[in-house]
Amino acid sequence: MAQLISNMCSIQPVVPESYILPPERRPGQLVVHPCKTIPVIDLDGDQNELVQEIIKASQEYGFFQLINHGVSEELMKDVLVVAKEFFDLPAEEKQRFFSEDPNQTCRMKTSIDFAREKVHFWRDSLRHPCHPLEEHIQQWPENPARYREVFGQYSVEVRNLSLQILDLVCEGLGLEPGYFGGELSWGQIMSVNHYPRCPDPTLVLGLPKHGDPYLITLLNQGDVPGLQVLKDEQWVAVEPLPHAFVVNINHMLQIISNGKLKSADHRVVPSSNVPRTTIASFIRPSRDVVVEPATSLVSESNPPLYKSFTFGDFIGNFMKDTHEGIDPLERCMIRP
Ligand code: OGA
Ligand code: NI
Repeated sequence: MAQLISNMCSIQPVVPESYILPPERRPGQLVVHPCKTIPVIDLDGDQNELVQEIIKASQEYGFFQLINHGVSEELMKDVLVVAKEFFDLPAEEKQRFFSEDPNQTCRMKTSIDFAREKVHFWRDSLRHPCHPLEEHIQQWPENPARYREVFGQYSVEVRNLSLQILDLVCEGLGLEPGYFGGELSWGQIMSVNHYPRCPDPTLVLGLPKHGDPYLITLLNQGDVPGLQVLKDEQWVAVEPLPHAFVVNINHMLQIISNGKLKSADHRVVPSSNVPRTTIASFIRPSRDVVVEPATSLVSESNPPLYKSFTFGDFIGNFMKDTHEGIDPLERCMIRP
């Protein structure tokens, strides 16, 4: 059975062979752009410019940092404290949630697809749905004692903020109000990620290059760097900003916007001197909803770039495509 890295790394002075990437897939320091950063948007700033700022950042980078977003600094910090406490628990306590069955709802896992992948990634994660809260909270950890209370409050606030951003995106794209409500923003998934200290971060990745398959992600990355975004074929480091959310456009939003907004690839590099804990919240469509470019965004001169499909079909193929190194958006494209 797969071994969590947070359980084994204290006894591991060197990177185990099965985590060492072939040289061409290692992070390679030189590809990181030395001075570029992703845009920073103030949600409390000039409201007339807000919509355009969000659209511009989502078009150019697919990523931005959001400050003055209304979720309190205390809650942003507290949820990370509780997440760290969880990963500091004795191995047996975390192992209880461990499962290689993707259908188990509250699930601890390590790397991405441990049983099938050739090389493993330097990450453990606890993943669970969180909307509607009452339906899921009973499956969440009871230890640490504050887990349910703090993650419960955090999930609700982050969902509300995500829906607020989606409303601004909706306005910026010129879609009818409420376009992203209902089935498109049916659910929410929390992924609590832990990247332990790594004896040699030049040999491994915490997460390989990927795009997020849902609608939108809000990430609380704390104060340890490690996230990098691909922009014009170069990796740009996302510097931690105190109490900010890192927001990124997901695959479904790229498709609905008919390619106007970008679901950018990103990856995570672990650190040699500090563990990194992050919390990603994804807003996801229901399995049955049909996803396609919004009809008001396509015309004869701007034909649809993507086919219609159900989200369930997309996500079913996503895992398989990712495993085989295929871009999951490729199969959605309409070929001329
Ligand atoms: C993810 C992700 C980034 C991070 O969970 O999909 O990209 O910094 N996380 O943990
Ligand atoms: Ni991601």
